[in-house]
Amino acid sequence: MDGTEPVDGIRIEPLSGALGAEVSGIDLGAPLDESRFAVIRQALLDHLVIFFPDQRIGPERQRDIAARFGSVDEEPFIYPLRMPALEGHPEVYRIVKEPRDRSLNLGGFWHADVTYRERPNLGSVVHIVEAPTHGGDTLFSNQYLAYETLSEGMKAMLRRLRAVHSSSMPYGGEAARFPAVARDHAPRPEDRSFEASTHARATTAIIEHDHPVVRRHPESGRCSLYVNRAFTSRFLGMSPEESRPLLEFLWRHAERPEFTCRYRWRRHCLGIWDNRCVLHFALNDYYGQRRVMHRISIHEAARPN
Ligand code: SIN
Repeated sequence: MDGTEPVDGIRIEPLSGALGAEVSGIDLGAPLDESRFAVIRQALLDHLVIFFPDQRIGPERQRDIAARFGSVDEEPFIYPLRMPALEGHPEVYRIVKEPRDRSLNLGGFWHADVTYRERPNLGSVVHIVEAPTHGGDTLFSNQYLAYETLSEGMKAMLRRLRAVHSSSMPYGGEAARFPAVARDHAPRPEDRSFEASTHARATTAIIEHDHPVVRRHPESGRCSLYVNRAFTSRFLGMSPEESRPLLEFLWRHAERPEFTCRYRWRRHCLGIWDNRCVLHFALNDYYGQRRVMHRISIHEAARPN
């Protein structure tokens, strides 16, 4: 479903050849009846990440929308950080970057969210409270395409493998801490100070779970590649050294530009991504500007399989 023919007055415009669509003709501040929610759900299944510009809603409505997809993650937590939540709304965590913040860029690496959990997130609903005038885009990558473009031999081998995902971020974590870049700001080595972060460190032990390397989407039935640079540490039954060369190949493949779209956020935009078949990457190129995103995540109903 895309492009020119609105369904229920809702228009859906694809953003790239790979994934992503902008949805207009709907006011998310008003209650969503079943038929309009069905259009949104189908748009998410078809386009994997969808954006609704100019939605002036508060956290309650954002939560109501998230809850239509599944059970809301009440304790947003990203190891090893306790995320600052919106006051009175522990389920809404605030992804905030201050103009002079050089220490932390949450999500500045290709990843799917919290894949180290037994039941990772089904997806997230984000609302942009403050956007930079330019920069701060998010990139998304279609992991159905990543799987479908592999050779039959590689697909058959991968379908037999499981991979361990670890919250210790064995390879990808460092990139999250890269200081911001801007036209007039080249970061220095001493800018890489994680301790300066305003995010409290949690004491929880490392979380690890294994998942299939190729997973089947519970709604679309399609297979996608399910490894990511941030959290996947090794193939089950293999050492990190044995796993790394194939993981490196798969990560690079998963991040190919032709599988991606890039979204430029505007204030009041609401975005929803399907964390089961999409990777994302938050660009850190807006030093000197403020960006505030409210994010609510949704639990997967069952373990990936
Ligand atoms: C994330 O959830 O990884 C952050 C996304 C973003 O800030 O664009």
